[in-house]
Amino acid sequence: MTKKIAVIGGDGIGPEVVAVGVRVLETLAEREGWDLALTHYDFGADRYLKDGTTFPEEAQSAIREDHDAVLLGALGDPRVPDMSHARDILFGLRFGFDLYCNLRPVRCLHDRLMPLVGRAAKDCDITVFRENTEGIYVGMGGHFKKGTADEVAIQEDLNTRKGVERIIRAAFEWAKANGKTKVHMADKHNAMKHAHELWLRVFNEVATEYPGIEAKHVFVDALCLFLIQDPSQFEVIVTCNLFGDIVTDLGAALQGGMGMAASANIHPGGLGMFEPVHGSAPPLTGKDVANPLATVLTVGMMLEHLGFAGAEKELEGIVRRAIEEKQCTSDVGGELGTKATGDWVCAQLRA
Ligand code: IPM
Ligand code: MN
Repeated sequence: MTKKIAVIGGDGIGPEVVAVGVRVLETLAEREGWDLALTHYDFGADRYLKDGTTFPEEAQSAIREDHDAVLLGALGDPRVPDMSHARDILFGLRFGFDLYCNLRPVRCLHDRLMPLVGRAAKDCDITVFRENTEGIYVGMGGHFKKGTADEVAIQEDLNTRKGVERIIRAAFEWAKANGKTKVHMADKHNAMKHAHELWLRVFNEVATEYPGIEAKHVFVDALCLFLIQDPSQFEVIVTCNLFGDIVTDLGAALQGGMGMAASANIHPGGLGMFEPVHGSAPPLTGKDVANPLATVLTVGMMLEHLGFAGAEKELEGIVRRAIEEKQCTSDVGGELGTKATGDWVCAQLRA
């Protein structure tokens, strides 16, 4: 059966790392006889600056009705300082397709990448479930008396019972399916007594349905401290949109940097959008220095989601070897460029 994948390279280093991701897909498809059909979209800053297009309705319906997954590079360009195109495209996918589950593995794949003294790669194997369709990201709010000394800016933090419950449930379900023993929920109900009281109450309620899994609460500020002191105490973390964004950048540092962090934006049972956690990195653009390994890991998550069992583990194993044998970019201790790293990964797939 054909699996259809929409590919959006986006801005900055996005197209370069996605080109490696596409080669990995093509190499695997050829080796395994898989029928993958890729549709390339040129959405991003160049297109926006050329004709004002961000994420048109036709493309949205084509993706919704006729694709199984989206592979996205990165969005963000200094020529569009307000990021309006990036928000239309990225949030158009996350919100428009109701991809409420932003699954971000914080797994350190090699001792050499572990920045904490006295810790090893095995001490960091965490899966973060970031709520992806609500919170402060919904953009509700506005300015009053903008540009004056009396200016007021308000941005609302939206939390619904349904939204909070479904992401917490997704975290417990995943923990159960993957043999995990505990789930931490990170909030800030000591300061955000309405919105995060809801998180705490729903977490405790949902936890009663999973008696085999320990449910633990942690304040998000303390979580940042504990992650640095001893990441091995965490297995699964579920949190709101903004905290998930922040905590996974901290997590990326424990994985060897932004070039190693993968993510899946999914609606369980439905379409998924897959993107490396890093951004468009404008200063690195066009220099063949961006680390494509986060994208390789992301492609693994996408293939697994599409039903190609084993692809994620295989690609993770190759990425681990790329680090071990220094067949990688300089941010993770190698001397290869983006393309050559991709060549090495594809050669391993063919070997
Ligand atoms: C991420 C990014 C985005 C986010 C930005 C680009 C809006 O930081 O995917 O983590 O905040 O979600
Ligand atoms: Mn982020």
